Amino acid sequence: MRGTSRFRHADPMTYDLGHHGDTEVGAGLIDLAVNVRRAPMPRWLAEPIAASLTGLAAYPDQSEALTAVAARHRRTPGEVLLTAGAAQAFVIIAQALRGVRRPVVVHPQFTEPEAALRAAGHEVERVLLTEADGFRLDAGLVPAESDLVIVGNPTNPTSVLHPAAEIAKLARPGRVLVVDEAFADTTFRPGVTGEPESLASRRDLPGLVVLRSLTKTWALAGLRIGYALAAPELIGRLASPLPLWPVSTPALVAATVIAGDHAVAMERAIAEQLATERAYLVDALRGVPGITVAGEPAAAFVVIRLGGADKIRVELRERGWAVRRGDTFPGLGPDWLRIAVRDTATTDAFIEALNDVVRAADEPGERELL
Ligand SMILES: Cc1ncc(COP(=O)(O)O)c(C=O)c1O
Repeated sequence: MRGTSRFRHADPMTYDLGHHGDTEVGAGLIDLAVNVRRAPMPRWLAEPIAASLTGLAAYPDQSEALTAVAARHRRTPGEVLLTAGAAQAFVIIAQALRGVRRPVVVHPQFTEPEAALRAAGHEVERVLLTEADGFRLDAGLVPAESDLVIVGNPTNPTSVLHPAAEIAKLARPGRVLVVDEAFADTTFRPGVTGEPESLASRRDLPGLVVLRSLTKTWALAGLRIGYALAAPELIGRLASPLPLWPVSTPALVAATVIAGDHAVAMERAIAEQLATERAYLVDALRGVPGITVAGEPAAAFVVIRLGGADKIRVELRERGWAVRRGDTFPGLGPDWLRIAVRDTATTDAFIEALNDVVRAADEPGERELL
């Protein structure tokens, strides 16, 4: 089966939590549905990964990668758990923390955390952030009794970057606070060194687990590599459901190289360029009749509201463009689409197609056809 929409995720509350952008990208379509950056792998990353193939007879050794990742975030190797992508972390959290009684997922957000919790038998409570509030987190909305809270920062699909101080309010003894920072490396703020609002290096917040992905900026979705950062005791608990050798040798090499100073500097430059391209996309989208861009986008994608977006998405496919449907995200619906930030030439071509489709939809008698 191609893609990731899986039967196990059939959701009683009408959202297909197992649907992801990769299932929307068909042959020949220009992909604005998946948020993985499109760029050739730099030589300094490709060469060590390729060289690692000669060592595949040996079982993977994590020590170098653990040391490198820990150093990057000013932590110790015992505070790092390497995973086969951030996606695997959601599954092990759901399995390792079977004892939690009141798990809360803050939506709209990536649906896999809730799907993994449900698959492990948890009853999940949703806290819904609203468009009226710019999809910004209000820590006061999360029930005080919750012993597991999962929030994304920046959040997929809204692209909103919550203040670190607001998220920190959610940390407390007796609660595990999971912050999915899969897209933190795509954020940039002028005048700020490093990633704005990241909690990756914070060691003072009880129960904090920060999840990171290396698959987005570095276009390594097929390699499967990410990690969790937390206090050693919590890392030990989360590791318990993992099989032996969960991360392959090439993925470990990628983690080591990407944690290095050169890669981190490159990441910052890529994020700065992305900020320019995102501003260009947002401006262009705001010029299309009927479109509202939600919140203040801060990541590698933006989310828009547009009447009849579900049908407009289908029309866009006819014209060769894949965008991500919004109706599978709790808190969004059929009038929402998520669009990946690409280079300005791609944005120009996309906006032209979008304008055409929107105009056609507005022609008398055409609305019903769309
Ligand atoms: C917000 C978010 N978190 C985590 C993931 C999982 O990333 P990966 O497993 O590729 O590291 C994704 C993938 O799309 C995502 O959008």
